[in-house]
Amino acid sequence: MSNHFSHEEYHALKEQLNEHAYHYYVSDEPQIADAEYDRLYRQLLEIEQNNPEWVAADSPTQRIADKPLSKFEQVKHALPMLSLGNVFSAKELTEFTERISKLLEKSAQSVNQIEFSAEPKLDGLAVSIRYEQGQLVQAATRGDGQTGEDITANIKTIQSIPLSLRGTDIPDVFEVRGEVVMPRDGFAKYNQWALANDEKVFANPRNGAAGSLRQLDPKKTAKRPLAFYAYSIGVVEPAHNLARHSEVLAWVKSLGLPVNHLNDVVTGHSGCEDYYKNIGRQRPDLNFDIDGVVYKVDDLAWQQILGFVTKSPRWATAHKFPAEEATTVVENIDVQVGRTGSITPVARLKPVTVGGVTVTNATLHNEDEVKRKDVRVGDTVFVRRAGDVIPEVVKVVLAKRPDGTTAFAMPSHCPVCDTALHRVEGEAVLRCPAGLSCDAQLKEGIKHFASRKGMDIEGLGDKLVEQLVDAGLINNPADLYHLRESQVSGLERMAQKSAQNLLQGIAQSKDTTLPRFIYSLGIREVGEATALTLAKELKNLADIMAADEERLVELPDVGSVVAQKITSYFAVPSNIEVIEALLDAGIHWPEFESRDSGSQPLQDQTVVLTGKLSVFTRADAKRHLQDLGAKVTSAVSNNTNYVLAGENAGSKLSKAEALGIAVVDEAWLVDLLN
Ligand code: IVH
Repeated sequence: MSNHFSHEEYHALKEQLNEHAYHYYVSDEPQIADAEYDRLYRQLLEIEQNNPEWVAADSPTQRIADKPLSKFEQVKHALPMLSLGNVFSAKELTEFTERISKLLEKSAQSVNQIEFSAEPKLDGLAVSIRYEQGQLVQAATRGDGQTGEDITANIKTIQSIPLSLRGTDIPDVFEVRGEVVMPRDGFAKYNQWALANDEKVFANPRNGAAGSLRQLDPKKTAKRPLAFYAYSIGVVEPAHNLARHSEVLAWVKSLGLPVNHLNDVVTGHSGCEDYYKNIGRQRPDLNFDIDGVVYKVDDLAWQQILGFVTKSPRWATAHKFPAEEATTVVENIDVQVGRTGSITPVARLKPVTVGGVTVTNATLHNEDEVKRKDVRVGDTVFVRRAGDVIPEVVKVVLAKRPDGTTAFAMPSHCPVCDTALHRVEGEAVLRCPAGLSCDAQLKEGIKHFASRKGMDIEGLGDKLVEQLVDAGLINNPADLYHLRESQVSGLERMAQKSAQNLLQGIAQSKDTTLPRFIYSLGIREVGEATALTLAKELKNLADIMAADEERLVELPDVGSVVAQKITSYFAVPSNIEVIEALLDAGIHWPEFESRDSGSQPLQDQTVVLTGKLSVFTRADAKRHLQDLGAKVTSAVSNNTNYVLAGENAGSKLSKAEALGIAVVDEAWLVDLLN
């Protein structure tokens, strides 16, 4: 069938696919939908099957070699791969910048005028990739800086690394250097898969990247989520004369290689400090681990003047962040009961500073995890805390295990209500089935009910919820609406005024919206987005409660698991009683109408989505925006009205800021939909 394709057409199709990959991975402006790319890819594959002699080395089909290697060959680096000096404080940074300005004195440079290329210090593995006549011919690890290992086959499996360079002005020899990382989302997903399939779980994304590149079977490496960011060049022939490191990076990007979007050019000592703080703030939300930032004197002539000390350049340094891992001792292990009855083992730790804060507790996730890691009281453990993420125990240092420890066993009964725990087949967690009659679940359920995204009850904080439950004043969410001032003002640290405020907050919450009400019930797997879908699609509470699984899975983004959780929630008589009691107490909402075109708040507005969303899937966000009347496009221009930015938003966000376009987040969309 595809025999009617000429060789030129084959070549053009291959180029087209490579160009799309560039726009997807490097310029962050995809130009076709994934499905369309897949269609073209399959077409290419078919042509190649019919014309095996045509297959080009840089065809996207050629990324995965069939045969595993028996070992990695050694590669001597044509130019050594250096390392960087470190600074750990503002004072050390001052020493670095002052030393530079002194050495550059002849060029009359004051500290305040020197420009630096400021870059995140990616926490992965350094590699050097060599292109000859534009084709990727070799890739090597850093090794000891002089000699590394040949990992060409593995590097080729990384989709964002081009197999051939882009453009017309391509050097005969071009070596690019950079870091291979395992993005955090891919790392989490991979570990989940590994756990379920009895494969090795990685302790952190860095180990994930390193382990994947040291894998002898490229087929396996191809399944690992890896990314690459270029940060410098090695041998280039003929030499390409540029004046600045930032220009080198722009050139590298134009040749088709990914360069990190957080790179910037900053001026002077204060520019470096601002950059450090700014990236430090973003660090928890990034999709890759970084352990600091790097400053490099941007002017290449000055780099020449400054030169090197043994193995690292004088013109650059790494400014390190506080470590996200530390070791400490497990003083105790106990279990916590969550809102849905899930039992989570928690390690109580000897206080330790991780990622800049003191940590005393770390999650052990679930029974399987405790068994797998075999964490015991008395053990020395690695603790990891990345940003706002709950600290977790990564690993036990077995060499430091004291004598006489015993393996931890999960309790058979709920530590709060003493109900026998059970574990649903196929689920990792142990649960207390007592629901709202378990005080722990009642407390968490009320906190969720009253939370900002739920009924948004002002003045009802976590401590107060605990007091109300402990005092026996509330047994379910509906009881909140029958509290009397005399009962509340009797509680610890509750003056009359604050009691009145609380009751007022509770009364005000009665005026709500259907999606908020659904969310606040705390149905498992029903977050903000699903609550919104239920309200929008089914319109009223009675129909939501009556919908069967068959009806529910027809709704956008509701799968069978979610549908099953919803129907089983409404099948429990006590849940229905609570809902009725809430309605009797006077909770109400305006009827949830689907919008007609007359009332579309985003009519004629153009919105661009960028970054990683957490409330909605991308497809859902797009659908909601369109329902509100917006046109959703992929490129930011002067015609764009809003840029909805999620995590790790890159060039589109910078462009929006440069053009002065309104940048909004998912909460903005939720508000509009509500
Ligand atoms: S430049 C001569 N830039 O840090 C300078 N390195 O300690 C060579 N790294 O082996 C390195 N991000 O693995 C440079 N933006 C960045 C970096 C970076 C991470 C790593 C790299 C290198 C180590 C140096």
